[in-house]
Amino acid sequence: MNRSMAILLAAALPALAAAADPVGVAAKGGFPEYLFIEKVTRSEAEATAQKLAKAVMAGRMIIFAHGAKITDASLGDKGFGGAFFEEQWRRSTDDLTIDATPAQKRILDKLFWAGRQVMDNNQDRINTPGVAWKHFLPAKWEREMGQVLTARTGIIVKQPGRTYRSPVNVPDDLERATLEHFIQAGHAENKPRSVATSMGKQAVVRYMEPIRLMVPCLPCHGNPKGTPDMLGFQKDGLEAGDVIGLMSVTLAVSD
Ligand code: HEC
Repeated sequence: MNRSMAILLAAALPALAAAADPVGVAAKGGFPEYLFIEKVTRSEAEATAQKLAKAVMAGRMIIFAHGAKITDASLGDKGFGGAFFEEQWRRSTDDLTIDATPAQKRILDKLFWAGRQVMDNNQDRINTPGVAWKHFLPAKWEREMGQVLTARTGIIVKQPGRTYRSPVNVPDDLERATLEHFIQAGHAENKPRSVATSMGKQAVVRYMEPIRLMVPCLPCHGNPKGTPDMLGFQKDGLEAGDVIGLMSVTLAVSD
């Protein structure tokens, strides 16, 4: 090999290496949450996940009901802090806590705690005067609440979207297939899906149920498809009753 050929080859090598190892892809094998603090027995897992999903939905509804107040530019302090929110949330979930097992009660308590933290974290945002749109809506609360809950417990609460706005809501393979199932099955299919699998080294139960749109969601997720909503995202072109995403809960099992 002459000298110029050797120089050419040396220049080409990094490019070849880059082709073999793509950058910015998921590492294979494990799972980032490798220490799952909270675990439930397999027999309790689906019912626990369902309680979590229903409780999160109830929390979303409380934020949703305060939407007009939150987006009122003429108001400063909204009086919508963590303690107030938690009290309302607990009251709206009496039916979920009344028959909860000790493990479920403990986990629900940590969920309420996580939701409250997120409300407290967002007070400066919610109370900013003179601005109508402050980027505080049910999906943002759930995204941040899920991250706080995972940090404390290892339980994963996600809302994968069919056309997600936040990259945190990217569906994984199972969630994508489940979204497709609910989209194809039509409005009447609401039977939750529960799958026993593993994440990294941990055996888990993954529970998913559809999030369906209501009329007040349509200014952003409705029609005309592709036209900008008030935040600049293109509208999804969906109608009331259509699936927009999933309540996706992953629980570690102890047996
Ligand atoms: C003001 C516009 C607006 C309205 C109204 C609205 N959304 Fe969204 N939605 C968003 C934005 C923005 C996000 C991303 C939130 C984030 O994670 O920061 C989002 C995210 C979501 C997600 C998570 C998947 C994703 O796209 O990232 C779901 C599920 C969702 N919305 C459902 C609903 C439902 C159900 C309603 C009605 C109850 C609703 N939205 C009303 C703007 C809106």
